[in-house]
Amino acid sequence: MTMILFSGIQPTGLLHIGNYFGAIKNWVDLQKKYPCLFCVVDYHSITVPYQIKQMSNRVLDLAMDLIACGIDPKKSILFIQSAVPAHTELAWILSTVTSIGDLNRMIQFKEKSKEHSENINAGLFNYPVLMAADILLYKAQVVPVGEDQVQHLELTREITRKFNKKFGKTFPEPKPYLTSGARIMSLTDDKKKMSKSHGEESYIALSDSLKTIEKKLAIAMTDPARKRRTDPGTPKKCNIYHLHQLVSNKKDLEYVIDGCAKAKIGCLDCKKLLAKNLFKELKPIQEKRKQLEKDSEKVKKILAQGAEQANKIAKKTIAEVKAKLGLA
Ligand code: TYM
Repeated sequence: MTMILFSGIQPTGLLHIGNYFGAIKNWVDLQKKYPCLFCVVDYHSITVPYQIKQMSNRVLDLAMDLIACGIDPKKSILFIQSAVPAHTELAWILSTVTSIGDLNRMIQFKEKSKEHSENINAGLFNYPVLMAADILLYKAQVVPVGEDQVQHLELTREITRKFNKKFGKTFPEPKPYLTSGARIMSLTDDKKKMSKSHGEESYIALSDSLKTIEKKLAIAMTDPARKRRTDPGTPKKCNIYHLHQLVSNKKDLEYVIDGCAKAKIGCLDCKKLLAKNLFKELKPIQEKRKQLEKDSEKVKKILAQGAEQANKIAKKTIAEVKAKLGLA
């Protein structure tokens, strides 16, 4: 049986290189290997406070970003979650085989509850159930995500097993698909993952100019043991080196390792080279993005076609699920 790939991303504003190297770059490559569905998960993003007036633009912006990164609507289905009602329908059904104890253990729920203590809503609690519905609706088995989503996928697998046991084999068990960029750390605190919520200086946006990247990297954390330029460093312990590994070629990596370990180069030299190599990766994406902005109607059409294709598959699954539940 052909394996299906599904992944989702929230329209929360700017994309950063954590999203890109942790997930999207992988999606682009995997399009060659699997039939893919990529979803802008707007229902997930309303579980935390947001600007209502900005939402429709954020969704469209994200779709443009994804296409600019290389998601090809001719090969893959790109759509908006709320345009396919079966996502929430299946989420309700799956919530009846999900244990509250399991949901209570979710790290993201604990973190977001702390961050938004004024609004700990049931949607935030049930977030992973909707994620399970996203995936199972298309019977997807391959789910490329960053490391922070692995716990949610373990829960999806548990929900799948429980559902299949109770109602008969319906869904395959999906697996996370990770790469070396699965956990990109914040520029200002290398113990935290890169996230938009830790302030502008902590992340590099896909839309950042070379100057901005240089500025953000100039103040970014390095190997804490290297206090002076004349101190030898330990590149493998340095967040800047980890970022180099994502974008720099063998020659540049050797130059950085040797230069740092023998104190032949300073952190600023290393960061300048990183900025140059990072921007080389981002520039073509930024250029394609500018082209797409001129034709937002075309992007809206792509999303409408994607929703139509997704709805077709989703309706079939819901009919099958309802029959299994004795609800048809
Ligand atoms: P979201 O929108 O928070 O993030 C999108 C993707 O980016 C990855 N990511 C990172 N990877 C490495 N390092 C980082 N610092 C970093 N920050 C973000 C995330 O792991 C994710 O893969 N719940 C999901 C969206 C979702 C989904 C799904 C994913 C909804 N339904 C079904 C897969 C399958 C999320 O919060 O993504």
